[in-house]
Amino acid sequence: MAERTSLQGKVALITGAAGAIGRATAILMADRGAAIVAVDRDGSDLTGLAAALPPDARCAPVTADVRTERDVAAYAAAAVKAFGRIDIFVNNAGVEGMVKPVEDYPLDAFRAVIDINVIGVFLGLKHVLPVMYAQGSGCIVNMSSIAGLKGTPGLSAYTASKHAVIGITRSVAAEAGPRGVRVLSVNPGPIESRMMDSINAGQSPDAAAAHAAVAAMVPQQRYGRVEEVAELVAFLSSDAAGYCHGGIYSVDGGMCAV
Ligand SMILES: NC(=O)c1ccc[n+]([C@@H]2O[C@H](COP(=O)([O-])OP(=O)(O)OC[C@H]3O[C@@H](n4cnc5c(N)ncnc54)[C@H](O)[C@@H]3O)[C@@H](O)[C@H]2O)c1
Repeated sequence: MAERTSLQGKVALITGAAGAIGRATAILMADRGAAIVAVDRDGSDLTGLAAALPPDARCAPVTADVRTERDVAAYAAAAVKAFGRIDIFVNNAGVEGMVKPVEDYPLDAFRAVIDINVIGVFLGLKHVLPVMYAQGSGCIVNMSSIAGLKGTPGLSAYTASKHAVIGITRSVAAEAGPRGVRVLSVNPGPIESRMMDSINAGQSPDAAAAHAAVAAMVPQQRYGRVEEVAELVAFLSSDAAGYCHGGIYSVDGGMCAV
């Protein structure tokens, strides 16, 4: 592996680490030499993730709810306690919410998506940035989506939340750039995963037809794989991507090109 894409000696804090994209990212980053702080909510399979990492990997699992400021402050502190620093923060935990037209979308369900996908991302930035500012270095990848760039019927809460992730990324990039910290967003298209299965099931009683219809909208005519998202996140987090800052980096098979 080229030296500048190595993550040897770096500490990577990943929220939603037990989920599809978080897990693939943790495995790839550990493989490239990073120590992993794996954050997910109570009841998630952090033990399974730790077992899937390379045998020599260093991993600190932390149970936290990203909506709760005390938990978020605690996961940042746990990372520093375990490994002394935070070089990479993958602000990734998220939910898809319900699939319903706006007039039928329950307020509580809308707020629940915003609480995790927007407040959770904000709190992560609020508590990890001071650690990186003290170091004078770091990279934050906020996980948005192509839903941060375009609309999808039935997904108003998710779409609003992912647009917000891009907005906060841009604002914080302006704050953090002069202090040596890179902040950017990654925007996956449809990825073969539980989340897309759930969205497809919400869009149509025929989930297989919904799955095929989504693939047909992608210029590459297929879903992405979690490993393909992880590759982009790992590259952007590495020293090789030193001038990538404040941007929107899509991994979507060309879906936003059309
Ligand atoms: N799967 C896709 O096709 C796709 C496409 C674009 C963007 N994304 C985004 O990528 C990210 C990861 O998605 P995924 O496909 O891995 O989904 P996933 O459901 O497999 O993983 C999400 C993880 O977040 C955790 N989480 C949810 N609420 C939490 C909370 N309150 N506190 C702590 N952890 C919490 C879950 O336990 C889960 O492990 C999300 O932000 C998602 O919106 C996914």
